[in-house]
Amino acid sequence: MSHEPSPANGKSIKVVIVGAGSVGVTTAYALLLSGLASELVLIDIDENRARGEATDLSHAAHFAHARVRVASDYAACEGATAVIITAGVNQKPGQTRMDLVKTNYGLFEAVVPQIAKHAPDTILIVATNPVDVLTHAAYELSGFPKERVIGSGTAMDTTRFRHELGLYYGVNPRNVHAVIIGEHGDSQLPVWSLASIAGMRLRDYCVQAGREYDEKAMDDVARRTRGAAYEIIQRKGKTNYGVASVLVSILEPIVKDSDAIVTVSRVGMYEGVGPVALSMPCKLNREGAHQDVPLLLNEVEKEGLKTSALGIREVILSVKKSDAESQS
Ligand SMILES: NC(=O)c1ccc[n+]([C@@H]2O[C@H](COP(=O)([O-])OP(=O)(O)OC[C@H]3O[C@@H](n4cnc5c(N)ncnc54)[C@H](O)[C@@H]3O)[C@@H](O)[C@H]2O)c1
Repeated sequence: MSHEPSPANGKSIKVVIVGAGSVGVTTAYALLLSGLASELVLIDIDENRARGEATDLSHAAHFAHARVRVASDYAACEGATAVIITAGVNQKPGQTRMDLVKTNYGLFEAVVPQIAKHAPDTILIVATNPVDVLTHAAYELSGFPKERVIGSGTAMDTTRFRHELGLYYGVNPRNVHAVIIGEHGDSQLPVWSLASIAGMRLRDYCVQAGREYDEKAMDDVARRTRGAAYEIIQRKGKTNYGVASVLVSILEPIVKDSDAIVTVSRVGMYEGVGPVALSMPCKLNREGAHQDVPLLLNEVEKEGLKTSALGIREVILSVKKSDAESQS
């Protein structure tokens, strides 16, 4: 077996992961197994831990043909195709994602300008929570175009939603087309009007299947989707596998330039509110995340999206205000 890193898609792909904690290293492992990257760099304030993780990962890398190393300096971001930020404090049982905002915003102020300085052409992928607020922060702190700052957003919730719908209807989640948009948090929004199985909207699918469309059951699906992270954190103290897989699914169309549509968070104007980052289906390719075609929403969904955007916008403004006050 060769020890040479194998170039992904014909060229050498370097990915930097900032934050070698639970999400960071699970993502590194998923990435190694995906074969998408030929070089993986871990940066963490706890360098000792990062070294331990990198050594362990590099033993897995032996099978995956990628080089894994630790860097103590953001100069290591130079030439990276993408920099994934997973550094920051995590939710404790009972906390919302928004409770983390002050600490993690400060971290972004320290880290993002350094990444932007050394890797001005990279794509930033943000996983740290609250992910929409921090995607907006990363956009402002980097000075990058909005296409090149992507939050994992509701890609995770969309996966959970499809999983729940698949279970309920007895269909493989791959064949359920349905999205969660808006905040990766409590104001997220299932787009019921567009949810479909085998090309049929859910109500039509139920008619064809000779079953009743059960509104209450669908509310339960949405509630379980929204509450999944809380439940997992209550039981095991963190979430890591789902988000790691989602981060790889965001990176893949970027590396392969494949125009895949993934529901991710990105800065824009939503129902007249903005600039704010929230999730909508985006086309992903080597240039980043594009929202070329507005999603067809009904009036109720538009209202829900506006409420979600206003909520995120409020947190962005309050965190910027308290940051300005603490600096004056
Ligand atoms: N977007 C999602 O779907 C999703 C899912 C799960 C977790 N998260 C978020 O991801 C973040 C990380 O979660 P985790 O479980 O990996 O936490 P963790 O505590 O296991 O890891 C965080 C890591 O960040 C490092 N770190 C802290 N400050 C740093 C700095 N200034 N520079 C570099 N590294 C620094 C820590 O040393 C630690 O290794 C949290 O904000 C969490 O809420 C997001």
